[in-house]
Amino acid sequence: MNETILILGGTREAAELAARLVMTRPDARIVTSLAGRTKDPAPLSGKVRIGGFGGAEGLANWIAENQVSTLIDATHPYADAISANAATAAAAAGVTLRRLARPPWMAEADDRWIEVSDLEAAVDAVPSGATGFLALGSQYVSAFSVRPDCRFVVRMVDVPEVPLTFDAEIVLGRPGLDAGAERALFEACEIDCLVCRNSGGAAGYAKIEAARALGLPVIIIARPAALSPGHATVEDLLAALG
Ligand SMILES: NC(=O)c1ccc[n+]([C@@H]2O[C@H](COP(=O)([O-])OP(=O)(O)OC[C@H]3O[C@@H](n4cnc5c(N)ncnc54)[C@H](OP(=O)(O)O)[C@@H]3O)[C@@H](O)[C@H]2O)c1
Repeated sequence: MNETILILGGTREAAELAARLVMTRPDARIVTSLAGRTKDPAPLSGKVRIGGFGGAEGLANWIAENQVSTLIDATHPYADAISANAATAAAAAGVTLRRLARPPWMAEADDRWIEVSDLEAAVDAVPSGATGFLALGSQYVSAFSVRPDCRFVVRMVDVPEVPLTFDAEIVLGRPGLDAGAERALFEACEIDCLVCRNSGGAAGYAKIEAARALGLPVIIIARPAALSPGHATVEDLLAALG
């Protein structure tokens, strides 16, 4: 029976890892699991399964039924529920667990970061009367509905299935890769502060650079404390897999 490696994905790094493993381990079955949040996910190398497992127990069952030898948690650094399930399921099923997580960004001298511990604290930190740009997953945005004293511009990949519960302007699209374009967007929307998470990686960094260039405060939500830092790069993880 050939080896099966299950990658919990949903990130660019997970896609890169799947492509590398398909190339370097032609005899292995490489499966990427997606939660199914994105309507039109980018194509992935290897096999793909979509949808929740039904908690840690469901994941452990899937691992056993599919004879997975290695579980790789390459989910987003803030996807703490699936990461906790991965740890529990790997222990229960007796398989090796590896984690791949981009290192967080570090503030530079000109950055005006307001670091907060969680979403609730981020909601409180938006100055009264401000226009905030919410660069957050769609599931976190409704928390800002308790701030009718502020105006919000929300960036989303897809049109929300359930309309927002408050009056916010939606900008559709993925995070801009170009700091100049992000800056132009912030200026056009008359943004006073950016609210985001410390996701790390190159793809989302342009907004941080744009905020720095405009001297805007960035309310930045800290990473879930319970999660291990894991391997910082695909290269490190591949080396650890041997
Ligand atoms: N959080 C973000 O901002 C963010 C950003 C970019 C991409 N993503 C990706 O989007 C997915 C969902 O993120 P989240 O923050 O909603 O996760 P989460 O809160 O940690 O997970 C909630 C539930 O969604 C299911 N799930 C999550 N990731 C899954 C995966 N890769 N495969 C199968 N089921 C998965 C699990 O359901 P069951 O308990 O039923 O198994 C999990 O308990 C993750 O794959 C993540 O990598 C998230």
